[in-house]
Amino acid sequence: MHEYYPLIVVGLTLILSSVLFAAAYLLYKRTKAPGDENERKMSDGEVIRRLLRYAKPYRFHFLLVLAVMLLSTCYSIFSPILVGQIEELVKNSFDLPELYRLLAVYASLLIVSLICMYVQAIVLQKTGQKIISRIRLDTFSHIESLSHIQLNSIPVGKLVTRVSNDPNHISYLFTNILVNLLKNALVIVGVLTAMFLLNLELSLMVLCFVPFMAVITVIFSKYSRRVHRRVNNATTEINTFLSENLSGIKITQIFNREEKKTADFRERSQTLKRFKLQRTFVFGVFRPVVYMLYIASVLCLFYLGGKGYIQDQHFFGQVITSGTVVTFYLFISRFYNPIQELAEQFDLLQRSFASAEKIFSVLDIEPAIRDDPDAVDLDSVRGEIEFRDVWFAYKPDEWVLKGVSFHILPGQTVAFVGSTGSGKTTILSLICRNYEIQKGQILIDGIDIRKIRISSLRSHFGQMLQDVFLFSGDIRSNILLSKEGVSDEEIMDVCRYVNADSFISKLEKGLDEPVRERGNNFSAGQRQLISFARTLIHRPSVIILDEATANIDTETEVLIQDSLEKIRTIGTTLMVAHRLSTIQHSDNIIVLSKGQIVEQGTHQQLLAEKGKYYRLYTIQTG
Ligand SMILES: Nc1ncnc2c1ncn2[C@@H]1O[C@H](COP(=O)(O)OP(=O)(O)OP(=O)(O)O)[C@@H](O)[C@H]1O
Ligand SMILES: [Mg+2]
Repeated sequence: MHEYYPLIVVGLTLILSSVLFAAAYLLYKRTKAPGDENERKMSDGEVIRRLLRYAKPYRFHFLLVLAVMLLSTCYSIFSPILVGQIEELVKNSFDLPELYRLLAVYASLLIVSLICMYVQAIVLQKTGQKIISRIRLDTFSHIESLSHIQLNSIPVGKLVTRVSNDPNHISYLFTNILVNLLKNALVIVGVLTAMFLLNLELSLMVLCFVPFMAVITVIFSKYSRRVHRRVNNATTEINTFLSENLSGIKITQIFNREEKKTADFRERSQTLKRFKLQRTFVFGVFRPVVYMLYIASVLCLFYLGGKGYIQDQHFFGQVITSGTVVTFYLFISRFYNPIQELAEQFDLLQRSFASAEKIFSVLDIEPAIRDDPDAVDLDSVRGEIEFRDVWFAYKPDEWVLKGVSFHILPGQTVAFVGSTGSGKTTILSLICRNYEIQKGQILIDGIDIRKIRISSLRSHFGQMLQDVFLFSGDIRSNILLSKEGVSDEEIMDVCRYVNADSFISKLEKGLDEPVRERGNNFSAGQRQLISFARTLIHRPSVIILDEATANIDTETEVLIQDSLEKIRTIGTTLMVAHRLSTIQHSDNIIVLSKGQIVEQGTHQQLLAEKGKYYRLYTIQTG
C-alpha cells in the first residue's frame, strides 16, 4: 500500500490547490463591477455556418490537410516511445543493428512529419488566402452597393478596418487555428492513450495535473478574450480617428489645432498601449504558470519514476524501467505544449469569430436602393426629365425638398438657383437615384426611375459634382475610370473639346502625369476640367453639373465657361451655377428656396417678375 502514498499526496495537493484557485477566482469575479462586455449578436454556430459556406469550395484541400495532419501527429506520439526504446537498448544490450533500425525508423518518422508539416502549411496558406480574398472582395463590393445615406452613417475608418484588418483575423482561423485546434486535441488524446498503455501509475500522476490546468485555462481564456476585445476596439477607434483626421489635417494646421489633435491622438494611442500591455500581462502570467506546472510534473515524474525504478516497485503489476521514465519525460512536454496552445488558440478563435461577425454584420446591411425585379434597361435616353410632387428628407421628417415639380424637355438647359442649403445639389443627386425619394415620382423619358436598372440609368448621366474627386493614379485613368478601348487620341480630342488639353500638354508626362491622392497636385480649376473630360468620354445623354464655388483664376474660369457652353449642346443639361451671368441663356431657370420652387422661367421673364431671382441678380451685378 505504501507505494501509492506519493501518488495520493501529489493528487490531493493538486486537486486541493485547484479548488482553492477556482474559489478565489469566483469570489474575485463576483466583486468585480460589470465590465465592457460588448457582447456578440450572432451565435458561434451561425458564424461557423457562414464561414463554412466560404470554405466549402475548398473541402478537398481541407481533407488533404486532415490526412497529412494525422500523419504528422503520429510523430508526436511515437517518437517518445522510440527514444525510450533507444535508451533501453543503449543501456542494456548495445545491439548495434537494432540501434540502426530504431534510428532509421526515427529519422523516417521525422522526415515524413516534416514533409507533412510543409504540405499542410502550403495548402492551408493558399486556401486561407483564397477564402479571405473572397471575403474581402464580397465586403468591398457590398459596401459599394450601399446607398449614400447608408455610407454616410458608417465612419470610413470602420469600413477600412472591416475590409483590411478583420479578414486577416479570419485568415488566421483557416490557416492556423482550426487545424491546430484539431491537431492539439488529437495529440492530447493520443499522448494520454499511449501513456496509459505504457504505465498506469505515471499516467495517473500526469492526470492529477489536469484539473489544475483546466482551471488555469478557463480563467486565462476569460481574461484574454476581454483584453483582445479591448485591443480590437481601441484599434478600430484609432483607425477611425486617423482616417478622419488625416483627411482634414490641412484644416487642423490652418486653425492651429495640431496640439489639440495630438492630445486626442495621444489619448487614443495610450488607451491602445494600456490594453496591449494588459494583454502582454495576461499572457505573461499564463505562460510561466503552465511552465511551472510542466516543471512540477517533470519533478513528480522523476521522483515517482526514479523511486519506482530504483526500488523496483510494482504498481498494479507494472514495473518502471529507465526507458519508461525517458518516454514519459518526452510525453509530458508533448502533453503540455498542446494544452498551452489550445488555451491561446481558443482565444484567437474567439477573436476570429468576433471579426467574422463584424464583417457579416456589414454584409447583412440591406442595400437601401435596389433594382426593382422588373426593372428595365434603357438603350438610349432622349433626356426628358420630370419631377412630380417630390418630397425628400435625409433624416426622417426633416424635409429638404417639399413637393418639387418641374418638367424638362429633351435638349433643354435648365439652371437651378437658390441660396445655400436650398436643395439644389439634392435635386441633382435624386435624378441619378443616389438617394431614394419618400413621396412623389421622378420620370426619365416618361418612365419612373425606380423601374429602370440603376446601372443603366446612371450610364446615361454625366454628373460633375460640386467637389471633384480624383483617384490616385494618372490623368488617363482618372478620365477613363476603367472604361476600355479608348485611344489616347480620343482622350485628347475630348480634352481639347473641354479645354483641358492646354494644361495637360504642358505637363511633363502628359496623360501619364501622376495624380496624387484626391488630386491635390492639381488646382481646383484643373480638377474641374479633368472632371469635364471624364464625364464627356462616357458619352452621357444628360449632363448634370454642380458648379464648384471654389475660386479659380480668371484664365481658367474663361476656359471653364467656354467648355460649359460647348457641353450644353450635347444634350439635356441641368446645372447649378452660382454666377447668374453664366446661366442667362438657359431655357428655364428654377429658383429654389428652402426646398420649394418659388419661381421659374427664362432670365428675361424672371427679371420682369422682380422676385427673388431679380434680387439675387441685382446683388451680383451691382
Ligand atoms: N448627406 C446629407 N445628410 C443630411 N443632410 C443633408 C445631406 N446633404 C445635404 N443635407 C441637407 O439638405 C439641405 C440641402 O442641401 P443641398 O446640398 O441640396 O443644398 P444646396 O442648395 O446644394 O446648397 P449649396 O448652394 O451650398 O451647394 C441642407 O439643409 C443640408 O443641410
Ligand atoms: Mg450644392
